[in-house]
Amino acid sequence: MTSTGRRVAEEPCENCLVGFGAEKIREDFPALQVKVHGKPLVYLDNAATTHKPQVVIDTLTRYYTEENSNVHRGVHLLSQIATQAYESGRTRVRQLLNAAHDREIIFTRGTTEGINLVAQSYGRSRLRAGDEVIISALEHHSNIVPWQMICDEKGAILRVIPMNDAGELLLEEYERLLGDRTKLVAVAYVSNALGTITPIREIIELAHRRGVPVLVDGAQATPHMPVDVRALDCDFYALSGHKLYGPTGIGVLYGKADLLEAMPPYQGGGDMISAVSFEKTVYNALPHKFEAGTPHIAGVIGLAAAIEYVERIGLRQIQAYEADLLAYGTELLSAVPGLRLIGTAKEKAGVLSFVLDGIHAHDVGTILDLEGVAVRAGHHCAMPVMKRFGLSATARASLAFYNTRADIDALVKAIHKAIEVFA
Ligand SMILES: Cc1ncc(COP(=O)(O)O)c(C=O)c1O
Repeated sequence: MTSTGRRVAEEPCENCLVGFGAEKIREDFPALQVKVHGKPLVYLDNAATTHKPQVVIDTLTRYYTEENSNVHRGVHLLSQIATQAYESGRTRVRQLLNAAHDREIIFTRGTTEGINLVAQSYGRSRLRAGDEVIISALEHHSNIVPWQMICDEKGAILRVIPMNDAGELLLEEYERLLGDRTKLVAVAYVSNALGTITPIREIIELAHRRGVPVLVDGAQATPHMPVDVRALDCDFYALSGHKLYGPTGIGVLYGKADLLEAMPPYQGGGDMISAVSFEKTVYNALPHKFEAGTPHIAGVIGLAAAIEYVERIGLRQIQAYEADLLAYGTELLSAVPGLRLIGTAKEKAGVLSFVLDGIHAHDVGTILDLEGVAVRAGHHCAMPVMKRFGLSATARASLAFYNTRADIDALVKAIHKAIEVFA
């Protein structure tokens, strides 16, 4: 059922590739109804952020209208209601990820903060001079810079798994990099710049054979496929709510309880303590130890509503539908003269990154915008990926389950327009 009460899974529709009605689902997203430059919006910038279904917007409004209060500290009714809603949001996330315990779910501002938390807490307490951290060539800056910062501080070394021309990680090279000095592996599940789905299970298994923990950057995976942190056996998993149809400013760090228990707090303040005196502070239990200060209560409640919405559609359905849409887009874009797809891995999710002969990506983005088609143009916070392909920028169309073949057709039409303008 959608927020408007329809059974999405059973509705026939023209654009429907795997049995759910994207056209109908679009009605749940008010932002998809707006016009840009007088044209209907074709929103293909979902890897940057997704639009919010009405049920998420209504949940936020209801919270601020009827329930607004601080959590964990009040005996009064509204505080109890807010605390209950906040903590049941944690349970909802735990279920989404199939984590074992609610206390393994830490609320953060987003993927970036989750990774920084692990770098500053786990990294600072475990890394010594000469130790090594392994990342990959396709990482977003937020899974590069936090590791550089802590490696610099500790005299540790950052190692990078290379990739081939399709944007696939080279597992043999990874195996060679793993060694006695490796203290942590941090790799994206899905690349935001290329769409590559990395062989994360193998990456985790190979690291675990050497007793090395693995952090998974799940920012781009969580919206597109079911994720099971226990089946993956990852040690940390970071995600962003705003890429999962939820509010901005809220994210999640999953960590195995034994690792989190042993880690020092990341920030100090209210809520993360159980007793404070000027002589000594006793830290709170998990997960509160890592949630200093008033949290983003509305964000958690909105994220829980988004997860419920997505789960009603079904992540398996979403995965199959988007795979079909991606294949359709790949076929159409490949046929455009002078267009080169960047990122042609066998396993991909949600991303069509491309360059056009003789036209800068920013110019492509501008012309597309005038046609109502929203894509991203630039380095996508992945400058090393651009460098690997000898580029400074690409144009990137990125998909969500509310996109349709008609959106892809509009994209292709607008690309032809750009070619015409710059001919
Ligand atoms: C793969 C990947 N990792 C991390 C991030 C950072 O996410 P946020 O800015 O929500 O913290 C992004 C955002 O685009 C991303 O695509």
